[in-house]
Amino acid sequence: MTDTTQAQASKFSLSPPYRTPKGVHDILPQDHEYHTYIKKVVRHRLRQAGFKRISTPIFEYTDVFARSIGDATDIVEKEMYTFLDKKGRSLTLRPENTAGVVRSYIQHSMQQLAQPVELYYIEPFFRYDRPQRGRYRQFWQFGFEIIGELDPALDAQIIFLANKINEDLGIEKLFKIQLNTIGSLEDRKNYIRALKDYYYGKERSLCEHCKDRLEKNPLRLLDCKNEDCTILAELAPKMTDYLSKESTEYYRDVKEYLAELEIEYVENPKLVRGLDYYTNTVFEFWDAKDGAQNAIGGGGRYDGLVEIMGGQATPAVGYAAGIERIIAHMKREKIRVPSKDNIHVFVAQLGKEAKKKCLKLIDEMRETGLKTIGALGKGSMKKQLKLADKFNVPYTLILGITEVREGTIIIRDMEKGSQEIVKFDQVIDELINKIGEENLDKYSPGEIIY
Ligand code: HAM
Repeated sequence: MTDTTQAQASKFSLSPPYRTPKGVHDILPQDHEYHTYIKKVVRHRLRQAGFKRISTPIFEYTDVFARSIGDATDIVEKEMYTFLDKKGRSLTLRPENTAGVVRSYIQHSMQQLAQPVELYYIEPFFRYDRPQRGRYRQFWQFGFEIIGELDPALDAQIIFLANKINEDLGIEKLFKIQLNTIGSLEDRKNYIRALKDYYYGKERSLCEHCKDRLEKNPLRLLDCKNEDCTILAELAPKMTDYLSKESTEYYRDVKEYLAELEIEYVENPKLVRGLDYYTNTVFEFWDAKDGAQNAIGGGGRYDGLVEIMGGQATPAVGYAAGIERIIAHMKREKIRVPSKDNIHVFVAQLGKEAKKKCLKLIDEMRETGLKTIGALGKGSMKKQLKLADKFNVPYTLILGITEVREGTIIIRDMEKGSQEIVKFDQVIDELINKIGEENLDKYSPGEIIY
């Protein structure tokens, strides 16, 4: 460590026992059950729709985000974890993934593939946000992007898929889809000019933040929550009056396709999103109670981004959702997910000969899909049975010196408290009968092709 980094580190140095840094948290086993379930749903739905998974690096050159998300956005101005590496290159922990996916699309010449290219991701992201309920400094998103084709049916398809995933998770009724268009880049230029003209001379009524935004990012004045700013925003020029004929028709078609797919939405002319790369369609899934505060997901079209990032002009549309927020909603609604962590069998043994036989047996049981733990330490039988109780297993196997000698083993039904003696080499079949073939945890990654 250099003297300065040491000095900086000591400023925040803590003593054991340590806790997680502010705004980040452990994912404990009970929450992993939700993470796993959500991942499964996402993978299933997106694979069905022809999407392929992509992972980009956790950090990228800072410019990848600054250029795409926009210098004047909250994310780039305040929320990025940026650092210099040992050679002085500026790197940033990814705050979102559209920028990284587009960088990858260009770097790997994906425009040569059949278009559109459909990609999805399930990854952690980092924002130096003010921690509060549903807002963390490390959080997980799943997201999906369609790059390489321009059609309002694709925008509707993305919204439909996002809603379908919510349906699978049992939470779709909790959200209202907010829909808007922010027009083409050209429409936006005209609209921003009109907005600035409207706000010039009214600066004194704006909050400090909006005074600053007026030059840097005037669209964000529309969704400021400050009371005076809200009143001014109500009377501000409307984007709809600055849309070109093409943009108006495009938006009309998106709505028509959504109606065809029976997706309900609310038109929200003030919805602008917090990232600069969007064009035309933008949308968010708002909590029906909390509104924008705890949106679980959002997205839109970004037809200018590939070119901004140095590729050929290529249209694209996408969506991302926050996994912690989804889990919080599922828990609030008391939605449970199947627990795969339950154990089927506990194996208790006494004596070295018994232990030897158990080692092999445990492996064979696991191979058949019986989830098994063994007490292979030196505890007394009483202690081992107590442990079996703690693990909440339905069955315990007991193998002592007598059973080894007689070639048998005891199956104890933990709920009934009853025991039966079976032949040692028939015990696996007996257990599978009791647990049920359908409940076995079989390992099946698919076949390797040589
Ligand atoms: P975003 O609206 O910035 O969009 O983030 C999407 C979702 O990530 C949010 O709705 C929220 O659920 C979750 N999220 C964001 N920040 C936090 C945080 N600090 N703590 C917990 N959850 C958070 C994007 O990231 C765009 N890349 C979406 C997109 C994909 N647009 C086109 N394609």
